[in-house]
Amino acid sequence: MGNRLQMTSELFEYVCDRGTRETDVLKDLRLSTQKLPDSDMRVPQEQGQFLDFLIRVLQARKVMELGVFTGYSSLWMAGALPEDGRLIAIDKQDTWKDLAERHWNAAGVRDKIDFRIGRAEALMEKMVAAGEGGTFDLVFIDADKKSYTHYYELALQLVRPGGVIVFDNTLRLGDVVNPSVHDPAVDDIRILNEMLRTDDRVSISMVPISDGLTLVLKPV
Ligand SMILES: C[S@@+](CC[C@H](N)C(=O)[O-])C[C@H]1O[C@@H](n2cnc3c(N)ncnc32)[C@H](O)[C@@H]1O
Repeated sequence: MGNRLQMTSELFEYVCDRGTRETDVLKDLRLSTQKLPDSDMRVPQEQGQFLDFLIRVLQARKVMELGVFTGYSSLWMAGALPEDGRLIAIDKQDTWKDLAERHWNAAGVRDKIDFRIGRAEALMEKMVAAGEGGTFDLVFIDADKKSYTHYYELALQLVRPGGVIVFDNTLRLGDVVNPSVHDPAVDDIRILNEMLRTDDRVSISMVPISDGLTLVLKPV
């Protein structure tokens, strides 16, 4: 087995310090989110930076996010989009809308974000029916973990050839390899991970950063 780095809190701090370009507005939103009871739902800094990088590599202009929460990952992604780029940001609730919008405005990216309230699966089905199939450059999936396999089939229709789907939390803090854990959310992610491994419609890369990110490339 090749050498694998054992990450420590000191190394994580180093990665965040040297490997990310978190702006003051992003930092303020991260710290404000930190005070909320569900703060662990937010992506960490290095993942925000990774999403920013992916958007730039793909030269993405039309991006979708499932699961907005306080808008931290949305802010990273919108910041990476060009002026005429659009992020369709979907959440089933608007509980944190004010906090998110305050920061999107402060960063000057509010006009790039089309925030839609509703269940992701229903809104995606509508987009497919409206003929938006094959028009998204990137879809970032971070909503209901029990629905990942459902989101996958819809995202695969909506993303363009050469576009990328990014699944968050595909390691579920290690639960995917713990046989005593039988939570519907973990079970659906296990099914998705197995399905993706053998799905010859796509190429994949499971990246063990954050809580596990799986990148899915729809071939050209
Ligand atoms: C993990 S949080 C998203 C975190 C966000 N990406 C960030 O990094 O700040 C998950 C979000 O998905 C939303 N959600 C859960 N089920 C959903 C569904 N079926 N459709 C749309 N949003 C959903 C929740 O309301 C919650 O805000």
